[in-house]
Amino acid sequence: MQVGIDMGLASGGPATLDIEELLATRLLVQGNSGSGKSHLLRRLLEQSAQWVQQVIIDPEGDFVTLSERFGHVVVDGERTEAELVGIANRIRQHRVSCVLTLEGLDIEQQMRAAAAFLNGMFDADREYWYPVLVVVDEAQMFAPSVGGDVSEDARKASLGAMTNLMCRGRKRGLAGVIATQRLAKLAKNVAAEASNFLMGRTFLDIDMARAADLLGMDRRQAEMFRDLKRGNFVALGPALSRRPLPIQIGAVETSARSSSPKLMPLPDSPQDVEDLIFTPDPQEFQRPLVRRAPPAPRPTTDILAELSRSTPAASPIQAAEPRVAQPELSAEDREERLAAVLAEILDDPGSGFRTDAVLYQEFLVRLRMRRVPGPPMSLPEFRRRVAISRSGVDAETAASENWSTALSLSASVTDDLQGVFLMLAKAAVCGEPCPSDARIARAYGTHSARRARRLLGYFEEQGSIVVHTDFSGKRIVAFPDFGCQTAPGDANAPDDSDGQEAAE
Ligand SMILES: Nc1ncnc2c1ncn2[C@@H]1O[C@H](COP(=O)(O)OP(=O)(O)OP(=O)(O)O)[C@@H](O)[C@H]1O
Ligand SMILES: [Mg+2]
Repeated sequence: MQVGIDMGLASGGPATLDIEELLATRLLVQGNSGSGKSHLLRRLLEQSAQWVQQVIIDPEGDFVTLSERFGHVVVDGERTEAELVGIANRIRQHRVSCVLTLEGLDIEQQMRAAAAFLNGMFDADREYWYPVLVVVDEAQMFAPSVGGDVSEDARKASLGAMTNLMCRGRKRGLAGVIATQRLAKLAKNVAAEASNFLMGRTFLDIDMARAADLLGMDRRQAEMFRDLKRGNFVALGPALSRRPLPIQIGAVETSARSSSPKLMPLPDSPQDVEDLIFTPDPQEFQRPLVRRAPPAPRPTTDILAELSRSTPAASPIQAAEPRVAQPELSAEDREERLAAVLAEILDDPGSGFRTDAVLYQEFLVRLRMRRVPGPPMSLPEFRRRVAISRSGVDAETAASENWSTALSLSASVTDDLQGVFLMLAKAAVCGEPCPSDARIARAYGTHSARRARRLLGYFEEQGSIVVHTDFSGKRIVAFPDFGCQTAPGDANAPDDSDGQEAAE
């Protein structure tokens, strides 16, 4: 079936896009910020909504407005990866159009969520390989050409999923439509798989050169992209036009939630402007502080670990300091002092919300203040000790065989997750109620209950725990490796201040 949708105006009449051809040959849209890419994608989605199933990976939450008019299901990306894979599978099974909105997630979470969702669609059973248009706006975020600030595994996961979509998706019915501001920032193999192009206004030479290469134009011809107006694109490809064809994208029915800023006259300035600005509003003090996304912990921790390894004598500053003769301590005395300093730090009620790197720095300073001699503990060892100590395990449990199994299992989770893992394991070994979301969140150094649930989902995906509920809806976490499980606990219970769950 041939369906040509109307994208707007070309010089000789309407600009049509052949949807069936598009499914086989994919589309790349590129243009600088404000050139009209998102508008173009919206036009394409609106015009084709009745003909083909659509999935939109939407970093800004701009496309959720399609749901009212066209019935797209809105999927919030803040879920566990297992949940996203499940939803993606069912989206294919039931052939429902959807918008995966990643608004509000930090960039690394956006990449992981998009990867999980795309992989879920890609891995759907063969009987559900119906055609789907998979639209990815800001594709350079998900398939970056070079590594950035995000962790290597998030980048690999997301790039792998985008590569699958563009290189191997066709047989599975997935047709990628990707848009990017900067062609030079998009992974080459992902861009190269599209056979249709819509090129909008492009300023930078490097992007222009990439565009010219992709389109098989010479660089001088590609200069035309510089002068394109907002909403004007050059179309080329089997689903669009056999020769480069300038087109003007038509109007859309739904609106983007964000739009370009418009100039507005400033209000007349009131007399008491300083009063207005400096007098706090009484509610201000009750409002929680907005926490910006924390800086990626890796580099800091690496640096700290590095510092803790460096030999003090090698440093010129240290060499200049008068050396204070330090008393020799027996291994036991030293251990006792280390433990005391650690306990001092962890007893501070605020310590639960500090990152391990910050605590570690504090720990190193206090060791110096107490003149505890010898090489300081490494950061991984410090994290481990913090995790064990936070789990609140008593001497008797600590000596048990189940606990030693729990400890060796915990070594397989990453450092930052050990605290949560051991807290759950301790509740299971001691048969205590399963900690609430709020309690788990605190052990992870966050206030977000959703993040706590994501962690449980993650452990479950790794196969280390099984989460189930009893008949009254209370949560139980079981550890198949040592045959223990927590008592049922209320997932929504508040976190009590002393950090222990109220016994039921
Ligand atoms: N063809 C068009 N007709 C009318 N308005 C348009 C057209 N194309 C874009 N616009 C308007 O221009 C503004 C910017 O467009 P859009 O958001 O699509 O840009 P973009 O290329 O996606 O930018 P960014 O890369 O920053 O997301 C929007 O307010 C949009 O409504
Ligand atoms: Mg946009």
